[in-house]
Amino acid sequence: MIMNRSAAPDSHPLSSSLSGESTSHLLRHIRQEYLLCRPPSQIKNLAEFLGTDTTSSSTNVVVSTATTRYPVETLSERIQQLHEASVGYPRSEGEKEYQPPTQYRIAFVKYIIKQLDTVLGSCESAKRDKDDGAEDDNEPSALWYESLESLSGMEAEQTEPFYRFYELPENFGMVKIFENERAIVSEGTTGLLTWEASIELVRWFSLGENNQAIKERKWVLELGCGCGLLATAALKIFPHILKYFATDGHWSALRKCKINLEENFGALKTDVIQVEKVDWQNEQDGIKFGKLVRTATESEELGPGVLLGADIVFDTSLIPALVDLMKKFLESHKDSIALIACTVRNEETLRVLKTCLESHSVEFKEIYSWGDKNGIIYKITRRIIS
Ligand SMILES: C[S@@+](CC[C@H](N)C(=O)[O-])C[C@H]1O[C@@H](n2cnc3c(N)ncnc32)[C@H](O)[C@@H]1O
Repeated sequence: MIMNRSAAPDSHPLSSSLSGESTSHLLRHIRQEYLLCRPPSQIKNLAEFLGTDTTSSSTNVVVSTATTRYPVETLSERIQQLHEASVGYPRSEGEKEYQPPTQYRIAFVKYIIKQLDTVLGSCESAKRDKDDGAEDDNEPSALWYESLESLSGMEAEQTEPFYRFYELPENFGMVKIFENERAIVSEGTTGLLTWEASIELVRWFSLGENNQAIKERKWVLELGCGCGLLATAALKIFPHILKYFATDGHWSALRKCKINLEENFGALKTDVIQVEKVDWQNEQDGIKFGKLVRTATESEELGPGVLLGADIVFDTSLIPALVDLMKKFLESHKDSIALIACTVRNEETLRVLKTCLESHSVEFKEIYSWGDKNGIIYKITRRIIS
C-alpha cells in the first residue's frame, strides 16, 4: 500500500515505491478514470498520487502535507509519469492513441496545473530555502502548460461529440462509446449514457467460469440496449457469437447504439448485428420480438440463446410487459437463459419483479451482486416441471 510508512523505514516512505507495483497500479487506475472522463476532483487517488491530498472542509482546502510528503525530485518524476499516463499518451510508438475528448482533456490539465501550483509553490519555497534561493530551471509543470497550449489550439479547430473509453476485463481491449456527458434523460430516453449495471455485467463475464453461460450459446438478444456498451463489449469478449440483436424502445438510443457499434467494429455486418426497435409494451413490437426469437432458435446454427438486460427494471408499471417477453424467450428453447443486471434503487421494484417472475412460472436465481447489494444479476431460466 502506497501510504504504508512502515514499509521503507530508512527512506522516504514514497520514494521507494515510485517505480514499484503500487505506483503503476495507482497510475493505471487514474488512467482508467481519465479515459472514462471522470471529473478530476472525483478521481480517487489522483491527489494522493501528487501528494496534494488535503485536509479539507468543503470550502477551505488546506494543503498541509505538500512539503513533507515527497522530496521535490520524486514529485517531478510523478508529475511526468502522470503526464505520460494521461494527456501525454501514447508514450511510445505502437501504443494506441486512446484519448478523451479535447474539452475533458483541457479540464483535466487545468485541474492538474492548479494542484501543481499549490504543491510546487510549497515545495519550491522549501527547496529554495535549502538551496539558498537558487532558481530551478527545470520546471516540472512546464509539460502541463505545453499540453494546455496545444489542446486549446485543437479545441478552437473542432467541435467534438462526447465519448468515453471503457477498458474491458482481461485483455479484450478498449471500447469507445459516444454518449451524453451528464444528462440522465435526453430525447425522451435514459439510454444515451452508460449505466453501472452494464459495466457490472461486463465485469461479471470475466469472473471465474461465468463466461461459460454465453460461450455455450451462439446468439444474444438484448433488451433496453441504450447506447450500446454491453452489446459492443459482449461482441468483443465473445467473438463466437453468431447473432446479436440489440433492441430498445427508443429510436434515439438505437441510433446511438448503431453509431457505437460502427465506431468499434466498422460498417455493421448485419448478418451478425441487428439493431431493432422493441418497445416492451408495444403489441406489434412484441410480435416482432416473438418472430426474431423463433427464427433464431429454430435455425440450425443458432439454437438456445441468451437474453441480456442491464438496468431495465426501474419502473414497476413496465415489469409485467418485460416479464412477458422474458417468458416468451425462455419458452422458445429449454436451454435458453436470461441474465438481467438490476441496479437496486428501490426494494419495492425488485419485489414486484420477483412476484411477477414467480407468477410466470420461471426460475430465477441471484448469481452476483455488487456494491453492497446496490446491484444484483439474476439468472432466469424456464421452470422444469418434474
Ligand atoms: C437505464 S437505461 C439502461 C441502458 C443500458 N442498458 C445501460 O445499462 O447502459 C434503460 C433503457 O431502457 C430503455 N427503455 C425504457 N423503457 C422502455 C420500453 N418500454 N421498451 C423498450 N426499452 C425501454 C431506455 O430507452 C433505455 O435505453
